[in-house]
Amino acid sequence: MARILAVGIATVDIVNTLASYPPEDAEVRVLAQRRVRGGNATNTLVILSQLGHTCSWAGVLPREPDSQIVTEDLERHQVDLAPVHRPLAGKLPTSYIALSTDTGSRTIMHYRDLPEYDFPSFDQLHLDDYDWIHFEGRHVAALGPMLKKVRQAGIPCSVEVEKPREGIEALFGLPDVLLFSRSYVQHCGHEHPPDFLRLLSPSRPAFVTWGEAGAWCASSQNEILHQPAPRITVVDSLGAGDVFNAGVIHAMTQELPLKGVLAHAVHLASGKCARQGLWIA
Ligand code: FRU
Repeated sequence: MARILAVGIATVDIVNTLASYPPEDAEVRVLAQRRVRGGNATNTLVILSQLGHTCSWAGVLPREPDSQIVTEDLERHQVDLAPVHRPLAGKLPTSYIALSTDTGSRTIMHYRDLPEYDFPSFDQLHLDDYDWIHFEGRHVAALGPMLKKVRQAGIPCSVEVEKPREGIEALFGLPDVLLFSRSYVQHCGHEHPPDFLRLLSPSRPAFVTWGEAGAWCASSQNEILHQPAPRITVVDSLGAGDVFNAGVIHAMTQELPLKGVLAHAVHLASGKCARQGLWIA
């Protein structure tokens, strides 16, 4: 199994389960509420840890009471917190999430006021301690130097591109794997993932997730593969993209062929959607 570092965020997620998504200005009764650790990079790590990898998190965790939910959960999943930057001031980012029972969709209202993990913190890490490094594509100014350092060290890496961020496209040539969300692809004006992937014509594998339609992948030779999602009753789609990313990273470290990587990641993400929380078994 591999030693994997993920660079990105942790949050506290206040998840309200509702019968259906409410209209604006309504007052509705919540069916259930849970308060859990969230955040893309740490969600991906807890899945990779369940798959048997040795996981480390590089992110920012302020010294304030809410951060305890993060440390407790990551310690339960044996995620190493040594690379974490812990400022004295600041607030853990918070997501208010409406989970609709009739569709399984999740609507996220995210609040953050915390500095991002920066290059000087990353620069102190011993990259030889890792076999794979995964990045959330969020803090573009720091991501560029981090990716260049990882490339120089010859360590395979992946970047998740979930939201449009100014200048991120200039970094697409650096990682070994690109992981695109549906909302990013739609932001680029595409409703059909193969069109996006053909235009991108990546020199390394690139993946696009598309909810109930499954996921697509373009190989470095520009062959486009599709894996439909199995028909399931969606119970909880929160973090499904993060689980998909964990599936890709896991299968890549196992050196599966691209078709197998795609199939494994879709299988893992749909399995997650059929159950509540970030558990794969
Ligand atoms: C799910 C998630 C949540 C978090 C939000 C941050 O992918 O990581 O756990 O609150 O997205 O954007």
